[in-house]
Amino acid sequence: MRSIAVAVLFCAGFFHLSSVFAHPRGEWTSLIITQHWPQAFCSLEHCKTNISYWTLHGLWPNTGIMCNTSWHFNASLIKDIMPEMEKFWPDLLKPSSPKFWKYEWLKHGTCAAKAESLNSQHKYFSKALELYHKFDLNSVLGNNKIVPSEEHYTFDVIETAIASFYGVKPKIQCIHPQKGGQFQTLGQIEICVDRDFQLIDCEKSIKEIWSNEILSGSLSGQSVLSVCDHSMPVYYPPVPSTSHRW
Ligand SMILES: *[C@@H]1O[C@H](CO)[C@@H](O)[C@H](O)[C@H]1NC(C)=O
Ligand SMILES: *[C@@H]1O[C@H](CO)[C@@H](O)[C@H](O)[C@H]1NC(C)=O
Ligand SMILES: *[C@@H]1O[C@H](CO)[C@@H](O)[C@H](O)[C@H]1NC(C)=O
Repeated sequence: MRSIAVAVLFCAGFFHLSSVFAHPRGEWTSLIITQHWPQAFCSLEHCKTNISYWTLHGLWPNTGIMCNTSWHFNASLIKDIMPEMEKFWPDLLKPSSPKFWKYEWLKHGTCAAKAESLNSQHKYFSKALELYHKFDLNSVLGNNKIVPSEEHYTFDVIETAIASFYGVKPKIQCIHPQKGGQFQTLGQIEICVDRDFQLIDCEKSIKEIWSNEILSGSLSGQSVLSVCDHSMPVYYPPVPSTSHRW
């Protein structure tokens, strides 16, 4: 009896040690590709945009922030991908400024850079763009007839469309209504990959802090974007029309 107990303990200990070796302390194990819906973002931030496609918010390792504050963002290192950056990873608050990329690089990129595959600014930003195109939400949603409109969708329809296409669980976040509101607004979608950029389920438990990083600054830490409610209709806001056609 006793030797069995010892063997079990030993095995448990060994298992634990081997997982430490596989993922040395401080090394991230997955990446979150986060895309947001510009019309939802701007409804919170009072910006104006006519963009009607999902844009990148960031590429975030699951652990670590600000891993090397002396590794400064340098836009001239990504000159060749600048037109793509401006189109698919725009700063919705300050459209012609590099501020958003600088922030994302310092906060998340310097941690992502612990992996050889992402250990330069060019590698980090171009990989983010590559993953954005690969996991193209615009066509996944569009192909399932989920398009921005005044109609509301059930959350299930949206989640199923994405989950069944990728074969993994996304994390879908909504702007929750003010008191008494009848619907939530589709805001942000996260797709997760492992260190080899293979799709994996996103963990719902990853702290909301990751998602609220920009919003929290201007809205005094209020959590405005969080995992969507399964039972509430979802509004997928279209670009507001600025002029009447007739
Ligand atoms: C969006 O706005 C930009 C800048 O104001 C303009 O150049 C572009 O044509 C607009 N696009 C659409 C689809 O209206
Ligand atoms: C931080 O980045 C700087 C600039 O790239 C580099 O010289 C330094 O070695 C990095 N520090 C660590 C701890 O990686
Ligand atoms: C930015 O990168 C370019 C190209 O490598 C280099 O010439 C320049 O000195 C860098 N600028 C700063 C401020 O580090």
